[in-house]
Amino acid sequence: MADPTSSTLTSPASPKGETQAFIQLKDVCKRFGSQEVLRGINLTLQHGETLCIIGPSGEGKTVMIKHIIGLIKPDSGEIYVDGMHVNRLKEREMAPIRKKVSMLFQGAALFDNLTVEQNVAFPLLEHGIRDRSEINRRVREALQAVDLDEHRHKYPTSLSGGMRKRTGIARAIIDHSECILYDEPNSGLDPIGSDVIDQMILRMQRRFNVTSIIVTHDMRSVFKIANRVAMLYRGEIRFLGTPAELRDTSDSVVQDFVNGRSDITG
Ligand SMILES: Nc1ncnc2c1ncn2[C@@H]1O[C@H](COP(=O)(O)OP(=O)(O)OP(=O)(O)O)[C@@H](O)[C@H]1O
Ligand SMILES: [Mg+2]
Repeated sequence: MADPTSSTLTSPASPKGETQAFIQLKDVCKRFGSQEVLRGINLTLQHGETLCIIGPSGEGKTVMIKHIIGLIKPDSGEIYVDGMHVNRLKEREMAPIRKKVSMLFQGAALFDNLTVEQNVAFPLLEHGIRDRSEINRRVREALQAVDLDEHRHKYPTSLSGGMRKRTGIARAIIDHSECILYDEPNSGLDPIGSDVIDQMILRMQRRFNVTSIIVTHDMRSVFKIANRVAMLYRGEIRFLGTPAELRDTSDSVVQDFVNGRSDITG
């Protein structure tokens, strides 16, 4: 097993000349009532990394990434984005974080009273862009990237599950954020649709050096797109390493998960 503590842990207040981590979680703990969900998460990402987060259902993957954009506050620990101390910010001070980091929510979280194109345009309006022709151009560009342009006038209730998901992805990529958090982007997509999303994530990394965190249950996708993989298990990061290290790990819990063996929860 790769040692999670051996990851590049840069101090947020790094001295001049050292690269500052882009995203950092330090000893993040979170419980809901008596349920301890996160029990000391340490994770550091540099600009341009593509990290996949895997782990059994209900282990806290969604809870963990919601901390990065301040939607959930930790009970203890710190979260930094580009040097900003996220968990010290008040909700009204979150705009710079939400501009830098956008999120595709599990289940897409679309507005049912807005069309596909209005949903996708939403972050632009929220960030003060008013030029109609620029909005239209960027909406079309984002919809073409997920192959949804011809459905732009439909409402979410008349879309398939996969189309809703792709609308959510178009909304997450439209504002050219530096970092995108994808909560299960491939679920509900057929293999070709899933590959389109993987290719898009790779393209955004290569062209714009976008930092991506992808929560996924799709191991094929992990091996295609990840620079590093983290496995969350029982509130801790059980594995952190490259896809090659994941393939070669001797940790049987991680192996069983990767190979889809079902005794993991026993
Ligand atoms: N707001 C909340 N209040 C109480 N409990 C919560 C809340 N949000 C999450 N939980 C609990 O935290 C645990 C982790 O949830 P989370 O959604 O992060 O799991 P997950 O790893 O993303 O699972 P999945 O793969 O099924 O999406 C679950 O037991 C869930 O019930
Ligand atoms: Mg989840």
